[in-house]
Amino acid sequence: MESTATGGAAPGGIRPTGELVRLTDVQKRYGRGLAGVQALADINLHVAQGEMISVCGPSGHGKTCLLNLIGMLEPASEGSVVIANLQVSRLTEPARADLRSALVGYVFQATGLVPALTALENVLLPLHFRGSLRGAALDAARERGAELLARIGLKTQTHHLPARLDASQCQRVAIARALMTRPRLVVADEATSRLDSGAMRMVMDLFALHQHEDGAAIVISTRDQRQLSRASRTLQLHEGRLLTGANDGARRTLRVQG
Ligand SMILES: Nc1ncnc2c1ncn2[C@@H]1O[C@H](COP(=O)(O)OP(=O)(O)OP(=O)(O)O)[C@@H](O)[C@H]1O
Ligand SMILES: [Mg+2]
Repeated sequence: MESTATGGAAPGGIRPTGELVRLTDVQKRYGRGLAGVQALADINLHVAQGEMISVCGPSGHGKTCLLNLIGMLEPASEGSVVIANLQVSRLTEPARADLRSALVGYVFQATGLVPALTALENVLLPLHFRGSLRGAALDAARERGAELLARIGLKTQTHHLPARLDASQCQRVAIARALMTRPRLVVADEATSRLDSGAMRMVMDLFALHQHEDGAAIVISTRDQRQLSRASRTLQLHEGRLLTGANDGARRTLRVQG
């Protein structure tokens, strides 16, 4: 059974324009037999361009696992994962890496900043993976990177190394890095868990801007109820199964798939 959307236009007038992600009958297991873990079961889900989706659920119920499948970081054990009309399991690892680099901005639960690089250099990193930057292109990239950092309250930390940043600031650098390439799909795993309300607002505003300007789809996992009002759709994971529910306040109902 397909997960349900809120119907009509999402908040902010964004209308989904095309399908970016489709998961069909997906299972994810780690290990085998009695020692095995069924991390995800019977997942059916689509994500359209221009949507912001929150994935909620208690710790250990499969949020990171689901986002890793959507971000092509891990393969499904069974079922079909289609990203940008490509069947991910049929791609070679280099082709999958290219697609990921071209399409996805990923914010890891552990921020994964490079300690020897400044905040701005960390933000520019995804561009360097696409080839060397020089001259005007490098200047433009540095300008965009600095602007992203400024928008989320890190103007004075632009040239600081991660060791000089607190957890909230590191998390925001990781978010700016994920948006640097204007990815069509942003996958953010607990991206706001260490943010206070002010920083949280700036980050959600930046995500919304990216959603509006670039028509990106944004999938955010969270245990944080503050995020839900910004999402076009909220999905709940419970013991690896997706419950579905419309993000419509009082009318919210949840039901188990299948
Ligand atoms: N590499 C792995 N090997 C074995 N089991 C794993 C692996 N990764 C995740 N799991 C298991 O899969 C289940 C889902 O884990 P996942 O990390 O997706 O949960 P989560 O909802 O993201 O939790 P949290 O909120 O704590 O980040 C858990 O039972 C976890 O122990
Ligand atoms: Mg997790």
